[in-house]
Amino acid sequence: AAEIARLLAQPRGADPLAGQPDFAGTVRLQPRASLHGKHILITAGPTHEPIDPVRYIANRSSGKQGFAIAAAAADAGAKVTLVAGPVNLPTPPGVIRIDVESAREMAAAVETALPADAAIMVAAVADWRAAETAAIKIKKDGSGAVPPLALTENPDILATLAASPQRPRLLIGFAAETNDVIAHAQAKLMRKGCDWIIANDVAADPMGGDANRVHLVTATAVDSWE
Ligand code: C5P
Repeated sequence: AAEIARLLAQPRGADPLAGQPDFAGTVRLQPRASLHGKHILITAGPTHEPIDPVRYIANRSSGKQGFAIAAAAADAGAKVTLVAGPVNLPTPPGVIRIDVESAREMAAAVETALPADAAIMVAAVADWRAAETAAIKIKKDGSGAVPPLALTENPDILATLAASPQRPRLLIGFAAETNDVIAHAQAKLMRKGCDWIIANDVAADPMGGDANRVHLVTATAVDSWE
């Protein structure tokens, strides 16, 4: 209680989102110290899955949503571990950041960061990686032949965490959908075994954009944030 009183007495410092990309609309921050004593584990950004030393498979995730959540959680007093894929964003104040490239590296970093009271899996993890990574750059041989690219499935970090003995008490997954957003989110909630799915309706403004509408989907309720 004394520690919380001390934190509350401190003036609110600089904007915790300073230096992060802008969001459309107002950001509502939680009271200072409201997450004091909690460890929150967050994944953010895309993953890069190597094909050879110079090429990779990626996606359009910017990381800004996960970084903003990490900034807000740290501002509310949580200890925050942010496992970040390759993004070009500054580390929010007070956040412990672990940079990774591939889905398998992200999975290992998440496991190392446990235990956590809550995990918020915002990262757009690549579903597949190249089955084999070439040790040297794959070259055109002039014949017009296209090299085969076989894919294999990546570990599902969220589903693995849901089934783990170290499952955080609150486990939140994300979904980016263009259609039947809530139905897909409800199905994903069951499939992955998490507590909430934050469904991003990306029909109007796809991944990387500044504005979206989210639906907080639980097993019993849907709360839509315009
Ligand atoms: O299956 P889908 O990729 O749509 O699920 C999205 C949710 O699952 C996100 O919370 C994402 O961070 C998580 N995820 C994961 N590991 C994967 C794929 C997705 O943690 N390999």
